[in-house]
Amino acid sequence: MSAVDPQDKNPKIEQAGASDESIQQVHSILLREKPEPEENHSPMPLFLLGFISAMVLMVAIYFVHNSGGLSQSFSFKQAAMVYDERFDPKNAPSAGAEVKIDPLALGKKNYASVCAACHQPNGLGVPGVYPPLAKSEWVTGSEERIIRILLHGLQGPIKVEGKEYNSAMPAIGPGGYNFSDERIAAVLTYIRQEWGNSAPAVTKEKVTEIRTKAAAGRTTAWTSAELDAIP
Ligand code: HEC
Repeated sequence: MSAVDPQDKNPKIEQAGASDESIQQVHSILLREKPEPEENHSPMPLFLLGFISAMVLMVAIYFVHNSGGLSQSFSFKQAAMVYDERFDPKNAPSAGAEVKIDPLALGKKNYASVCAACHQPNGLGVPGVYPPLAKSEWVTGSEERIIRILLHGLQGPIKVEGKEYNSAMPAIGPGGYNFSDERIAAVLTYIRQEWGNSAPAVTKEKVTEIRTKAAAGRTTAWTSAELDAIP
């Protein structure tokens, strides 16, 4: 159909009817030049956004109701900083409630950290050097005496389970190991009920009473002769 002679350079004629060739050439250029790429973020579907927000809210509400005692600080001593799956808000102690410390557990811990070095973990002591606490008549006897031994120490000759010792034990109370009355009561309760010993518990009130009244002002260690005079 092309009637235009490719050799004919007359622009007027070219305008009137472009050759197949030139049309193809122009199109090929147009096809090569793709549109500029543009940033293309398709917005999140609204329903998905709503669904996720609802989930987050529900999880937050669920956690508040099932937080397992996490940071439910009823008092400073009670502050639970770990998740406890058995936590039951109904059984939680009320605000300001004193936490009961098991004297035997406290006593055992303090025995291990201080007394065991000399009296040994099994309470049998070291023959000739450190007297035994297991089955000792001092331990299971009058609390008046052992409270004093712990408060201020003990020195000089002493007979325990028929054997003589002559050494010195440092004060465990103020000025020595600085045990509180509560720790002294706990460790005494522990040694009175461990290794087959069975004697009544010692209260911290009794320790306080002896420290502040009966033996007030005492700073030196006791001797067994002095203690024998105390009922
Ligand atoms: C540094 C060593 C040492 C430590 C620590 C020590 N004791 Fe003693 N304890 C002795 C010695 C030594 C004697 C005997 C003292 C004497 O010969 O006059 C003694 C005597 C005793 C007695 C009277 C005698 C007997 O065997 O029943 C008791 C009770 C006692 N200690 C309890 C304790 C308790 C409880 C603790 C820890 C809170 C403790 N001791 C810590 C060295 C120690």
